[in-house]
Order: sequence, then structure tokens, then C-alpha cells
Amino acid sequence: MLTEIKKPDDEVLKKAAELIKQGEVVAIPTETVYGLAANAYDSSACAKIFKAKGRPQDNPLIIHISSLDMLRRSVKEIPDIALHLAEKFWSGPLTMIFPKDDIVPDTTSGGLDTVAVRMPDNEATLKLIELCGVPLAAPSANLSGSPSPTCAQHVYNDMNGRIPLIIDGGECRTGLESTVICFTDSGKCIKILRPGAVTAEMLSEFATVVTDKNVYEKPDANEKVISPGVKYKHYSPNAQVYIVDTDSDEEFVGFLNSHGGDNIYGVIFGREQGIEIPVLKYGNTAEEQAHNLFAVLRETDELGAKTAYVRCPDKNGVGTAVYNRLLRAAAFRIIKP
Ligand code: TXA
Ligand code: MG
Repeated sequence: MLTEIKKPDDEVLKKAAELIKQGEVVAIPTETVYGLAANAYDSSACAKIFKAKGRPQDNPLIIHISSLDMLRRSVKEIPDIALHLAEKFWSGPLTMIFPKDDIVPDTTSGGLDTVAVRMPDNEATLKLIELCGVPLAAPSANLSGSPSPTCAQHVYNDMNGRIPLIIDGGECRTGLESTVICFTDSGKCIKILRPGAVTAEMLSEFATVVTDKNVYEKPDANEKVISPGVKYKHYSPNAQVYIVDTDSDEEFVGFLNSHGGDNIYGVIFGREQGIEIPVLKYGNTAEEQAHNLFAVLRETDELGAKTAYVRCPDKNGVGTAVYNRLLRAAAFRIIKP
């Protein structure tokens, strides 16, 4: 199959909508990462997403809406708190989990009786959803296990020959996937299943917020998890990634300088001085790190890196999300020098 990359003018969006109505899969830009989109109500179209990604069948998809009407059509029940959160954070990087309506097929929800919903903050993609008239189910547009794509070229590298069209909306603003939450205690409590740019601090204005333990821990082999995604290998480049956890620039630089070798790279904030091994920079602030992390992990592959020692991010605010992704990229390997 020929894979085209096109900028989102009206013609291209119309063509994308036609493809989606015919049950095809199209890659779409969002403010977080690129998604691999199909009609969320069409079971065989969604099956194609799983095939293109090589994604396990029990890992549910997020459905992307352009109006609250689409939310109402897709779920059985909307707690008041969800409407308040929607008003504050949509369109934006917040995904909420609801009891699903029968209109959402089991393929989309990975067999669960719930469905994850968000309204993305990208003008072209909102227009496309509108043109399709149905929500678009879309996981991140990478091959299962790889770092998520934050530009059209990343999608092309993973999906060339597997899908007909990639809509090129430029670089994703945030660079990390949305915050995923569910509600407990009849909507009095918010549980964070995956951290993102909408942080625990921001959510705590609305309810008590707890963070699921699997945000920071590897689930046990037979553990029943709320969010099936946490069971699987994630965000990993070919290189062995290690998190180097220290607050001190000197200690970090000392560690790198004593661990150099063939195809060994440091992934640094950028402000550190005196490093003698080759490095990639991912930024001095949590926002920059979120924006650059996946691109830098993909770059280690292009360089043929065997080992990447990544500086541990600050674990506050959006840094929580950066750390969560990095933990999985590193298969939970942490070095304290
Ligand atoms: O920012 C994002 O969320 C991007 C863009 C494309 O919107 N999408 C994304 O999708 O990251 P994906 O499939 O890569 O990650 C979805 C995560 C998975 O960990 C999945 O297990 C979880 O959300 N999830 C989806 N539906 C769920 C549900 N009903 N219950 C619990 N977890 C769910
Ligand atoms: Mg993903």
C-alpha cells in the first residue's frame, strides 16, 4: 500500500473523511502525539488499527470526539464532574473513562465495558471528526512498543506501507500522550491511570486525586490492572535505556565520563558542562523534556546507540508524565550514581 503524507487542506480532509467512512485507517495530528484513526463505531475498521500497530487485542483505544453530543452518544452515563472537567480541559490532553454504550464495539474497548474519551486540541483533526460524523478511535501512531510519534516523519517511519494517508500537522505541541483518568467513589474521586500535561495539581481543584500505583510500578505478571496499556512494553528504542537519577550536575557528568564507550550516548538536559561522551539534549524544563523525549529516543535508534544513559527528570508537574514514560522506555532500570 502506498502511504501518502499530506498537509491538512480542505481537499485532504475530505479525502481522509472518505477513507475513514470506507473503513480505512488514517494517521492524524493531535496536540499530544499523532494518532492512528478509524471510525470508532466500526469494529472491522478498528481491527485494522490493531493490525497496523501490532497491538495486543485487549489494549483498548481512546475515542476522539468533536462535540459533547458525540460523548453522549457513546457512553451510558456522564457524572457531573466529567462535564466540569470537559468545560475546563477540552479541547485538550485529558482522557476520561466512562461506562460504554453498546454503539461502541468490543474491538474498540478491548473487551472492556468502559470507553476512554477525549476531545483533541487540533483544528484540522476536529474538522475531520466533524466531517466523519462519528468519533475516531485512535491510539498513538507508532508500532506497538516503540516511542510515540510527535511528527509526520516518525509516523511514516513506522507505518509506511501499512496505511494509505498521514495528515501532516507539523510537530505536536505537547509531545506526550494525554492524561488518562477514571472516577471512583461516585465521582467524588479522580484516579490518574496515566499522567500527562493535565497534572494532578490541576485536577485537584475538582476532586480528591489519587495516582494509580502502576504509574510508577511495573504490574505483577498476573495482576488485574485497570488500564491494560500498563502491562505492555512501551516507548522503547532499540538501545538499552538507563535512567540516571541524581540532582547534581557534577555527579551526572562524572557518571557519564566514566561510562563512555562504543555506541554509548548520554541524554542530558542541556545545561550540564564538561561531558566527554556524545550526547543528545532533551531540555532543561519539564515542558521541553515532554516535547522532546520521544524524538530523542527515536534519534538514539538512528545513531545506532547500544546504550543510552538518560538524566532523570524532575518528578513534579508535567515532569511526572516524562518520568512515567521514561521508566517504561528504560524497563524500570534506574541507576543512582
Ligand atoms: O494523547 C493521547 O492520548 C494519544 C492521542 C493520539 O490522542 N493517544 C494515545 O492512545 O496515547 P494509546 O492507545 O497509545 O494509549 C491509550 C491508553 C492505553 O494505556 C490504554 O490501555 C488506556 O489508555 N485506555 C484506553 N481505554 C481505556 C479504558 N476503557 N480503561 C482503561 N484504560 C484505557
Ligand atoms: Mg501508545
